[in-house]
Amino acid sequence: METKAATSFEQLDTPSLLLDLDIMETNLREIAAFANQQGIGWRPHIKTHKCVEIARKQIEYGACGITVAKLSEAEVMAKAGITDILIAYPLSSPLKLRKLASLLPLAKITLAVDDPKQAERIHQCLEHTASAIDVWIKVDTGLHRCGVEPGKETVALAKEISKYPKLRLQGLFTHAGHSYAASSVQEIERIGIYEGQAIAESAEWCEKEGIPIRHRSVGSTPTFRISGKQPGITEVRPGNAVFFDAIQVGLGVATFEQCALRLLSSVVSLRPQERVVLDTGSKSLSLDQGAHGNATVKGFGHVVDHPELTLQRLSEEHGIAAVARHTNLALADRVQIIPNHACTVVNLFDSYVLHRKGTVVGEWRIDARGKVQ
Ligand SMILES: Cc1ncc(COP(=O)(O)O)c(C=O)c1O
Repeated sequence: METKAATSFEQLDTPSLLLDLDIMETNLREIAAFANQQGIGWRPHIKTHKCVEIARKQIEYGACGITVAKLSEAEVMAKAGITDILIAYPLSSPLKLRKLASLLPLAKITLAVDDPKQAERIHQCLEHTASAIDVWIKVDTGLHRCGVEPGKETVALAKEISKYPKLRLQGLFTHAGHSYAASSVQEIERIGIYEGQAIAESAEWCEKEGIPIRHRSVGSTPTFRISGKQPGITEVRPGNAVFFDAIQVGLGVATFEQCALRLLSSVVSLRPQERVVLDTGSKSLSLDQGAHGNATVKGFGHVVDHPELTLQRLSEEHGIAAVARHTNLALADRVQIIPNHACTVVNLFDSYVLHRKGTVVGEWRIDARGKVQ
């Protein structure tokens, strides 16, 4: 683990991606404690950290497996020895399904299905092999991205899937990503309750038709503590909650003190009454100000301990912060920035610099960064 020669931030070049291990471990303990209290499983989405070491840590802290979006992310994780993986993304192209088949000896892979034709394609791909595969139905509880409607449509798809001997229908899942567009904590609460109830009720409907549904999985970081409490839910899948970020703070879901990830950045140019230019532009901070209509962040990241700065504009290599009145910052000074969206920022770096209370203790590779296929 100890691959960074530096022992303090002063010795690091910028921009660097700092990961506070103490905060991350507290976040993991809290998710695990929630799942334990509810008597349910926890299957974190690794889209946030994209890192084998962190996936292993999540499992060490009690996760029952992991969630990924991409087949290529599943490949990285399965090859690293993670044995229980939900690919929460509908795969149907013959090329992808052939690649998938090669992963089946490495890990228990579960596939998302939201269309009878997709179920048929998966079955056809496995028809002449010895393998069968677990599938979960993706249910749309309001995000309106992928998924079938709860209730009748879910039951109809469950019946279709049950026709295929190579598919074992094991679960229903949903992701209430529209919670990111909520304008109040009460709205998040309403979305979370519906997320949980719609899955639990749809599972009961399937069971009344003689189709057992073992896994009923919910989760987004804003909603998992609400949907995960609804009777009948068996599992939560928070991703972002491993680190949190400025978007979660803006939503009222976390505090800045709970954010484990920061960018270390340097001042490269300034006019103290007017603006400070940092070496973190869109190539390191991303232009992300929130998905699904989120409008709770100010600028392109939160500059820690500098309330006078608002990161107003980014070009690729420059982050331009407007100065309210005056700043004491000088050329080559360092600042730390809490990113708006941790997941997209992580995708831009090769590694995390690990620290505990400011002492650098190592480096972890971001193994699944850039895995877009
Ligand atoms: C299917 C699915 N599950 C879980 C998550 C995790 O959501 P969050 O990062 O809000 O915890 C996502 C995020 O995109 C997702 O698409």
